[in-house]
Amino acid sequence: MANVLFIKANGLPAERSVSVKLYEEFLKNYKANNAADTITELDLFQADLPYYDATMMSGLFKESTGDALTDEEQRLADIANGYLEQFLAADKIVMAFPLWNFSIPAQFLTYLFYLNQAGKTFKYTAEGPVGLVTGKEVVLLNARGGVYSDGPMASWEMSLNYVKNILAHFGITNPQSVIVEGHNAAPDQAQDLIAAGIEKAGELAAKF
Ligand SMILES: Cc1cc2nc3c(=O)[nH]c(=O)nc-3n(C[C@H](O)[C@H](O)[C@H](O)COP(=O)(O)O)c2cc1C
Repeated sequence: MANVLFIKANGLPAERSVSVKLYEEFLKNYKANNAADTITELDLFQADLPYYDATMMSGLFKESTGDALTDEEQRLADIANGYLEQFLAADKIVMAFPLWNFSIPAQFLTYLFYLNQAGKTFKYTAEGPVGLVTGKEVVLLNARGGVYSDGPMASWEMSLNYVKNILAHFGITNPQSVIVEGHNAAPDQAQDLIAAGIEKAGELAAKF
């Protein structure tokens, strides 16, 4: 029995969002094939995700040095650490997110900042940072209206690449992914591109 965390980083309904369509298809198929697993859904657009501000940073830093925190520093550090503990407790993680402005939604960025803690998800060594997170399987579900997998815009892709690099920094180097791209750039092909992505998400869910 696996503990599975489904993270949705888009507040739009499935009718208006390709990444949410992928998320829902994956979730439906995963549940159908793994009835005994414990599934937790984290909707980042509904979650309490205060900015990673100076007070939160100060609280997390003081915890690492053993200094006393103010009440507000403790409250914010507890929020970040709650999400981190949930992430670390999962055996499998699914992250669904769009490419917006070449990057990821702010809510997702904030969440990833919470996870990025020295001594917990990575450590510093003389040879550079080393990831501390092992033994997790991860699937990334990403939608982007233009084409970034190759061609002139490839280096502008800071959505999937960013998430993959952050996960690699944590030690998670082998995420699988389903990408739907180019559906805004080629509206005549949009339906087929999206349908193919949904099918792929369902297939991957059945063997994840
Ligand atoms: C706020 C916003 C910013 C976007 N920025 C880009 C962009 O920089 N490049 C691009 O190719 N598409 C961009 N798009 C289009 C999305 O990548 C496309 O709609 C994709 O399907 C997003 O995933 P979603 O359908 O799950 O929301 C943007 C869309 C929105 C709403």
